[in-house]
Amino acid sequence: MLVRSFLFVPGNNEKVIAKAEQLPADVIIYDLEDAVAPDQKADARERVCNALSATAKSVIVRVNSMETPYFLEDIHAIANLKADTLTAIMLPKTNRNTDVVALDLLLNSLGVPANVGILPLLETALGVQNAFEIGSSSDRVKRLAFGSVDFGLDIGATLTAEGTELLYARSRIVLASRAAELEKPIDTVFVDFRDTEGLEKEALMVKGLGFGGKLAIHPMQVDCINAIFQPTQAEKDQAAEIMAYVEEHGAAVFQLNGKMVDEPIIKRARQICELAEMLDSKQQGEN
Ligand code: COA
Ligand code: MG
Repeated sequence: MLVRSFLFVPGNNEKVIAKAEQLPADVIIYDLEDAVAPDQKADARERVCNALSATAKSVIVRVNSMETPYFLEDIHAIANLKADTLTAIMLPKTNRNTDVVALDLLLNSLGVPANVGILPLLETALGVQNAFEIGSSSDRVKRLAFGSVDFGLDIGATLTAEGTELLYARSRIVLASRAAELEKPIDTVFVDFRDTEGLEKEALMVKGLGFGGKLAIHPMQVDCINAIFQPTQAEKDQAAEIMAYVEEHGAAVFQLNGKMVDEPIIKRARQICELAEMLDSKQQGEN
């Protein structure tokens, strides 16, 4: 599955849920947690269940955290539906591997198929510290996600446009994901949603760190995120050139346009070609 953009949609807002259906986000996240006020939790849960049955999208549900009185009801309601549109449950404020193990057991006991994932949202000091253990805790975990707003609050940092204060946490999550043999992680939301230039800068920076996609909160952000978390034309051209050379000469090391090419670069070129093919067939499917 191609996953670059993950658009949050407040679970209590039917109009926005319907709107999301038309947007080019790779994944929609129906939110039952922070975008929903306590007195709307039950209403949102019902709306999200209805939407899950009706959507044509790949959907993740962000349930309320395990410490809240809403968590069990959220899980039971979603599990009962058995909707095949549900790709994963996002677990906010995941702190320890045992949080994931407990949710995994609960999902198993409720008959939720093994292909429904768990997406841990790391947004506390403890969660980021335990990123590797959390990433290795269950086969349901395919990737990790980072939440900077709660994380910044938890560690007492001041969030800046440069993001220096988040660099260690982001890199720790990238390393943990790789060490646990997960997909690339998903970066946090960019809250100033009208600042497209700022979003672009941040997305490019985190792509460079090793993130594979980004959470979004507004339709304006989706195209920008999709464009950045896919190979550029220059990257695709270079990868195709490398693969053509390898096919023709079968060489393990050679030079192309004055730069050395060897095994890891060939491997990367192959990945880019595969990704580009996947994107092309996705776009053809949409047209
Ligand atoms: N998904 C789908 N559609 C959305 C959307 C979203 N996340 N956010 C806004 N829209 C729609 C609006 O409904 C509006 O549609 P319309 O033109 O048909 O009326 C259009 O996009 C433009 O929205 P705009 O007026 O610019 O913003 P807003 O004031 O309606 O909403 C937010 C701003 C931030 C409240 C809204 O984007 C939102 O709720 N985002 C998600 C928040 C969330 O889930 N947070 C939790 C995770 S951090
Ligand atoms: Mg949060």
